[in-house]
Amino acid sequence: MDEKIKFAALIGAGAMAEYHIRGFREAGADVSAIVDQNPEHGEQFAKKWGFPGQSYLSLEELLAARPEIQAVSVITPNKFHKPLVLEALSHGLHVFCEKPPALNAAEVCGMAELAKEKKRMLMFNLNNRARLDSQFIKKEIGRGKIGRINSAQATWMRRTGIPGFGGWFTTKAIAGGGPLIDLLHMIDLALWFMDFPEPDTVLAQTFQDFISDPNFHGSWGKVVSTKGTTDVESACHAFVRFKTGQVLTIHNSWAELVKEEDTYVALQATHTGVRIRTVNNQNSCELYSQKNGFSADRSYRFQHDHDMGRTRAPENFIRALNGEAEPLTTPEQAIALMRIIDAVYLSAESGKPVRITSDGSYQPL
Ligand SMILES: NC(=O)c1ccc[n+]([C@@H]2O[C@H](COP(=O)([O-])OP(=O)(O)OC[C@H]3O[C@@H](n4cnc5c(N)ncnc54)[C@H](O)[C@@H]3O)[C@@H](O)[C@H]2O)c1
Repeated sequence: MDEKIKFAALIGAGAMAEYHIRGFREAGADVSAIVDQNPEHGEQFAKKWGFPGQSYLSLEELLAARPEIQAVSVITPNKFHKPLVLEALSHGLHVFCEKPPALNAAEVCGMAELAKEKKRMLMFNLNNRARLDSQFIKKEIGRGKIGRINSAQATWMRRTGIPGFGGWFTTKAIAGGGPLIDLLHMIDLALWFMDFPEPDTVLAQTFQDFISDPNFHGSWGKVVSTKGTTDVESACHAFVRFKTGQVLTIHNSWAELVKEEDTYVALQATHTGVRIRTVNNQNSCELYSQKNGFSADRSYRFQHDHDMGRTRAPENFIRALNGEAEPLTTPEQAIALMRIIDAVYLSAESGKPVRITSDGSYQPL
């Protein structure tokens, strides 16, 4: 970048916005404007963060008043990611967009193409990559300490954790789906650790038990309406085979009769096994190996990441723009991640294994 990023703004003043403003400010950006289609949400946020009167109803309105803005975060419900990212890029802004990147891979392809055409940075908030334990494991993999990853398990399971019950989170047309697309972080981490091998086939099943039962609502996003739409899955189990012979097992749920909320990625590799896990808000990072006939396991403790990298990831976006850090995500990785999500939903719907072809199309087998 020729020019340092000085002025940035946010679009969407909901629960996630506070992490974005902290991260952007930590990296030195001036954030003193917000867009929200709900004027009360926007103004409340602007007051809380010290810039009253700087909330706008649309990006157009923002840019008319604040033409110095160089970068934005898109932090709205999932359906609006694509149109808002395209609008921001077409105005020449750099864009950081919340996860999921969009509703499906085709949408992300369109976003990536425009970013390339406009020569603007497009990054996504796959924030678990910014965790200290994830960074450590990625470095160990890069140093050849883990070996070839044969198999991985990506799990984010909850017992009573339906977010925003009856609101946009549980409405397929706005969210794109339930826990599979919402809690996609561990799937992303596993793929990132495996260096995004080319997928071959996906076999999946989703379940809808408990999705309409408000007793299964969770702490993220209060109950919006007990009579609202709840047409997404409550649990998803899937198996992905890659062309390399590597495999990935996925288990994501918001509402399932499990012991407790459990979030982990486990890797079985040729030198060392790995598990990074968060249970009851406690992180653990373990490495497993055999040495001289003994099981030699190591456990690492890191400074606790209460927010799972949610502040460090937007900070990385600004630092990457300023040439101070490597970008944590690329649009190509976001497309690859969403192709797997698409194929999982298609396999669950069709009841068949689905092949992901090299050109990115899907074939039920
Ligand atoms: N990375 C994470 O850990 C994490 C956690 C939770 C949510 N998220 C993601 O963050 C995004 C926002 O989630 P949230 O929980 O903050 O949502 P939220 O419902 O709390 O807030 C969304 C805000 O966006 C505003 N909005 C809606 N449509 C808009 C539009 N077209 N233009 C401008 N403003 C609009 C709403 O008025 C609201 O204030 C979602 O994509 C969600 O998946 C990420």
